[in-house]
Amino acid sequence: MSSLVAELEDAARIGADEDGVSRFAWTPELAQANEWLLARLDALGLETEVDAAGNVIGRWEEGEGTAVLVGSHLDTVPRGGRFDGALGVLSALESVRSLRQEGVALKRPLWVVSFNDEEGSRFQTGMLGSRAFVGDLDLDDWRKRGVDAAMSAAGFDFERLPEARAVDRVGAYLELHIEQGPVLEQKGIDIGIVTGIAGMLGFRVRLIGEANHAGTTPMAVRRDALAGAARVVLALREEALKRGDITANVGVLTVTPGGFNVIPGVAEFTIDVRAGEPDAFSSLDDLVLETLERVAGDEQLGLEVSETHRKPPTPLDSGLQDLLAESAAEAGASVCRMPSGAGHDAMVLAKRVPAAMLFVPSRRGISHSPEEFTAPEHCELGSRVLVRAVRRLVTKPGG
Ligand code: GLV
Ligand code: MN
Ligand code: MN
Repeated sequence: MSSLVAELEDAARIGADEDGVSRFAWTPELAQANEWLLARLDALGLETEVDAAGNVIGRWEEGEGTAVLVGSHLDTVPRGGRFDGALGVLSALESVRSLRQEGVALKRPLWVVSFNDEEGSRFQTGMLGSRAFVGDLDLDDWRKRGVDAAMSAAGFDFERLPEARAVDRVGAYLELHIEQGPVLEQKGIDIGIVTGIAGMLGFRVRLIGEANHAGTTPMAVRRDALAGAARVVLALREEALKRGDITANVGVLTVTPGGFNVIPGVAEFTIDVRAGEPDAFSSLDDLVLETLERVAGDEQLGLEVSETHRKPPTPLDSGLQDLLAESAAEAGASVCRMPSGAGHDAMVLAKRVPAAMLFVPSRRGISHSPEEFTAPEHCELGSRVLVRAVRRLVTKPGG
């Protein structure tokens, strides 16, 4: 078994139970995974740091100019898989290991990163670590979500988040990731070069009806908050199916008071809508708000809605895409260009530095699930392509 595959298995034990892997920002499980990574970065002789935002960074400081940054994340969704994020971090580690073994002299520094809170599982906003790394802070919003308390419970200081900004010393970002969709497997292609990342927009919604007796209240006069939420779920799904250029998901729903014989008085839920093209992305606000207002009006429900995140569609760097495609061809891999429907830290980095990503196939396209799986051969091939691209970048002088 290769060191990459062995390390993927090893890391997957941290925060795992029979239902999947759960590691969230500033929890003991993610701290344990970070310690595990730090030990490996140390063993490779890198300068290590957990920065003010909880990002784990290993620096190979050699050569001059800006660094090449390579990595992904070790946090997960609730009951997630073993590859989402971990593959990118561990293949970045593998790049350092390979270049050390080859005795390559760097013309510019090479940094490995594991960004904190990519998934947003704990605070429903996401990419907090990479946003702090590029200096894109939203401190008021993060405080409202309780990030300050979570950080201090974990021994971090919210006020020091601005110190995590280090993007000014970086000149390029590369990330290997599993595809998390079915395209590569269906086409029988080894490597996807990501052209751009779909924009993501999120809302938290509260529909307010009236809790009442399930048996005595006439059907025609009920103000059933769950019935309203169900109509919203189906309306968004139908619109997304009809249009084909957007996705829509309600992944969290709670109903109160929650009795089998009580009409639901309040329904709270999240909405995640996405679009790859800027015009389609711009239409998402109206779609969601008009749907909510129409249903709330029809069902005589109160409506409260707040935005949780907004990340516009992000094209990735064409020069780095070409570099990855050439590296894949040299490694003997079949290649295609494709968009990403999933969000990644690369979309945050791409605002400040050239950034690019490569994908390897996901079995049956499944991700954000314990069923997530990528064949060892594809993990290793993706990693070899990454190493080739990194080698080419770090053996040329950095700007
Ligand atoms: C992150 O994995 C996302 O696309 O939600
Ligand atoms: Mn994910
Ligand atoms: Mn990911």
